Amino acid sequence: MTDFTSTPNRRKFTTDIKWNLYGKDVLPMWVADMDFRAPEPILNALRRQLDHGVYGYEWADKELLAAVAERMETLYGWKVKPQAVSAATGIVSGFSVAARAFCSPKRGVAIQTPVYNEFHEIKNNIGIPQVDIPFVKRINENILSYEMDWDLFEKRVKKAAIFLLCNPHNPLGIIFSRDDLARMAQICIKHNVIIVSDEIHSGLLLDNNPFTPMATLSREIERHTITLVSPSKTYNIPGLFCGFAVIPNRELRERYNAELNRLRLHVASPGLHAAKIAYSAQCDSWLDDLRRHLVENRDYLVEYVGKYMPDVRTTIPAATYLGWLDFTQTKIKGSPYKFFLKNAKVAVSEGKIFGAEGAGHVRINFGTSRRRLKEGLDKMRKALEALR
Ligand SMILES: Cc1ncc(COP(=O)(O)O)c(C=O)c1O
Repeated sequence: MTDFTSTPNRRKFTTDIKWNLYGKDVLPMWVADMDFRAPEPILNALRRQLDHGVYGYEWADKELLAAVAERMETLYGWKVKPQAVSAATGIVSGFSVAARAFCSPKRGVAIQTPVYNEFHEIKNNIGIPQVDIPFVKRINENILSYEMDWDLFEKRVKKAAIFLLCNPHNPLGIIFSRDDLARMAQICIKHNVIIVSDEIHSGLLLDNNPFTPMATLSREIERHTITLVSPSKTYNIPGLFCGFAVIPNRELRERYNAELNRLRLHVASPGLHAAKIAYSAQCDSWLDDLRRHLVENRDYLVEYVGKYMPDVRTTIPAATYLGWLDFTQTKIKGSPYKFFLKNAKVAVSEGKIFGAEGAGHVRINFGTSRRRLKEGLDKMRKALEALR
């Protein structure tokens, strides 16, 4: 069993963003990385490279691209050729490349809000319109869930060139069902909208929930879809910046790769070495242990909010290590993110960065030890209690 009770001192390196952006008195529960060491097989691969001592130019070779393709078949029975896979410096790079390749100042990107803040940056970075498709928020006692408004989805998505799907969803923790995915795809195909499916969180499944990559639903959907995958979230190696696009449709692939080549987004060699191991089966038992730990942390968070934070609402994420909390019914005036930073010395993520609907909400990262999670929640609870 992997030990997820101990977390290394991340302030040791001043380049660590999560633990250094705020003061030393602040507990960071914001940016989406975990406080754990990466699995030993990945660390060993990096050690082997270090011991070799040569840091010459490297590339995503056939063996690596085949490893990604094989992993898709092992996990989902999805047969893709290694030629359908291309590497880039992460997933933000991947969807930015897709936006540059397929969007125009007239037809841009459609996103379902609230959603990962970087999705909102594309419009300015690339100079294209953004079409927001808000989810419908549902409340049952103190539990939040989000659904799609299908009429709105069709009305809005057809204005875009690409639909950037986040599945599993950051920050809402949704895993979309096969039926929902098929319905989204049908609408996109009808209106000639390319689907870019960001599946970076697809390894972080809680409660043994199944996951269906959009492109596996049918050959027709596969032809319209660019799938983005990466080992970075699952194995806690986002700083190595290595991600992959899987594009079985040759025409889409050629357009994507032409843009990728124009931008010269070469992955640094440690990312390549780590990915090769991540896509083998060598880290599977570590991942089983991690998922168990994350389920326990998620349950702890949901129970804690229900018991000790009256008027606060929470999602029950089906995937990811990200919780989404609603403070709109509490006595907090203004941004709860600012409130907790000042009064609890806890840094969560500001809800508004995920879209206007995020006002009054925060995202909390529970990818840490139980002790740290409890410490953060205790501090937040105390600050809330002081308002009564
Ligand atoms: C949905 C989603 N996509 C992409 C990323 C970042 O990807 P990368 O670091 O590979 O660019 C994140 C990080 O939080 C994310 O949540």
